[in-house]
Amino acid sequence: MADYKKGLAFTYVQGTKYSRERPHRDQLGAIPSPGRFKTYPEAELLRLPQPDFSEPADLWQCLARRRSERNTTQDPLSEEELSKILWAAQGITARAGMYLLRTAPSAGALYPFETYLYVHNVKGVSQGIYHFNVAEFGLARLRGGDFNERITTASLGQPVVRKAAVVIIWTAMMLRCMEKYRERAVRYIPMDLGHVCQNVQLAATALGLGSCPIGALYDDEINELIEVDGEEETVLYMVTVGKLS
Ligand SMILES: Cc1cc2nc3c(=O)[nH]c(=O)nc-3n(C[C@H](O)[C@H](O)[C@H](O)COP(=O)(O)O)c2cc1C
Repeated sequence: MADYKKGLAFTYVQGTKYSRERPHRDQLGAIPSPGRFKTYPEAELLRLPQPDFSEPADLWQCLARRRSERNTTQDPLSEEELSKILWAAQGITARAGMYLLRTAPSAGALYPFETYLYVHNVKGVSQGIYHFNVAEFGLARLRGGDFNERITTASLGQPVVRKAAVVIIWTAMMLRCMEKYRERAVRYIPMDLGHVCQNVQLAATALGLGSCPIGALYDDEINELIEVDGEEETVLYMVTVGKLS
């Protein structure tokens, strides 16, 4: 067998296939669910303004113009711009029983990820690390300070990270998805986040801002920055947002 077939990538794809011949059994045991979304009740909550959609954007133009922009500046975003970006990412658009349905699809409506932000420069929002509270449409302030150098270093020194006004950080909540989908969760979580990131990029385009997805990062350095354990919750993806230079 070729060596690459013994590697993790092949094992992962083969091991997480659904197949008519193979019953869906595993040895994972009971998996405790970590709840539908995280909250930080001790943290100060900054409610975001409800986004104003009176100015329409043309979807076809946004699709045609969307680009990963690395030449952004640290000039301030407004709270309204940040609110629209976060609404595009995970705004609640309907309720179905216990489910809070969002702007992006998610396998089983589980939304097995959490949204954090490093706010470098947003008018009216002090610099620091925040967690997005999906139900309250607000930001829990986790830690104040300038983390620009730290987040850039943790992103392999990419200048695009240094030149952003905001970096959105998404973690995978493994157990929230594994409880239902078991090993197949490792397929679904990145799919879910792909949808979310595309929404952010389209919203940034509509607002005349630049954004760039970031997959190249030292996972545990970002995990330490946002203070998550790196196992049950671990960073998967980020996106930078800023004014175009
Ligand atoms: C999963 C994923 C990870 C990415 N990671 C990075 C990254 O770490 N740094 C970067 O500059 N661009 C990153 N990109 C952006 C791609 O380089 C970009 O999407 C690609 O070159 C196509 O260009 P476009 O998005 O402007 O159409 C990533 C894109 C995706 C979808």
